[in-house]
Amino acid sequence: MATMRDVAQKAGVSITSVSHVINKTRFVAPGLKKRIFDAMRDLHYRPNRLAQGLRNKRSFTLGLILPDITNPYFAEIARDIENASFKQGYSIIICNSDQDSATESRYMEVLTDKQVDGVILVDVGSRSPKALAPLSTMPLIMLDREVPELPTDSIQADNAEGGRVAAEHLLSLRHRRFACIAGPEVIQPGDNRLVGFKEALEKAGAILDESQILRGDFRSESAYRLALEILEWKTMPTAIFAFNDLMAFGAITALSERGMRVPEDISVVGYDNIEQASYFNPRLTTVAQPHREMGEMAVAKLIERIAEKDLPARVFHLSPCLVTRNSTAPARNRRED
Ligand code: RIB
Repeated sequence: MATMRDVAQKAGVSITSVSHVINKTRFVAPGLKKRIFDAMRDLHYRPNRLAQGLRNKRSFTLGLILPDITNPYFAEIARDIENASFKQGYSIIICNSDQDSATESRYMEVLTDKQVDGVILVDVGSRSPKALAPLSTMPLIMLDREVPELPTDSIQADNAEGGRVAAEHLLSLRHRRFACIAGPEVIQPGDNRLVGFKEALEKAGAILDESQILRGDFRSESAYRLALEILEWKTMPTAIFAFNDLMAFGAITALSERGMRVPEDISVVGYDNIEQASYFNPRLTTVAQPHREMGEMAVAKLIERIAEKDLPARVFHLSPCLVTRNSTAPARNRRED
């Protein structure tokens, strides 16, 4: 099996230069770096990560804790993180907290015992900074869900902006009677979506009172049940904003089974833009989260933190965008029921 020495001889450089390229510990001129990578490829050289890890006290492994791996949004973000980690020479250990804070804390202990170099955490929500404090004993980045009091890096899409674009789209279609199928109150991204949605409605002179806001659990079945409740309302809304795509699917299924046509009778907007949103019937209008950019940035910023633990905490907000498909249409001119 080729050694670092073999690579150095083939590339015509010092072993030190090869080590700096592998460990990213010092700048190496692009031309030299290319000769080293070419030699590694030709010799099928693979760095001895275990030996390296022992020397540098690094495992070259990252932990990823997700709240619900059955949700395609998190499955897609896990794939993005795995791809980005592999390119940086890291493996990942994926953990599912199943929306349970005790499980989340237990996995943090497991990852600490396994000596991962850092953790990307999508928090279950509802965690007090005190409860989360032990989690920040190692390089940690909060993804998708912020805990502002926790002094760690965080990355999420601008959820208030996402709520605004959903509202502006429906308002542009002359909708004025709405229902929101929001997520659980403790999960911060959903709350910010509601803030943005309400702001846009108020700006347009439309209202959304508390009775029009129902709380699901980000899964289809909860929204199916809530849509049946909406069908019993004295005044039917002409549009529903579901705070994620899975809940939009559940709501559309319930509406369709009760003879309501989407979008002819009622428009539905989702959130996340998971792959299935393009293939649902009707194809779902939704707010797309930049999950690939979020995942890649989470890996890059965590590796920076691993290398430089004393960096000040950084907050990154990325922009969501509306993807208009077939589940929304102009409101029909209907007199108040
Ligand atoms: O689909 C799950 C939801 O919870 C997503 O919108 C994501 O932002 C997460 O917070």
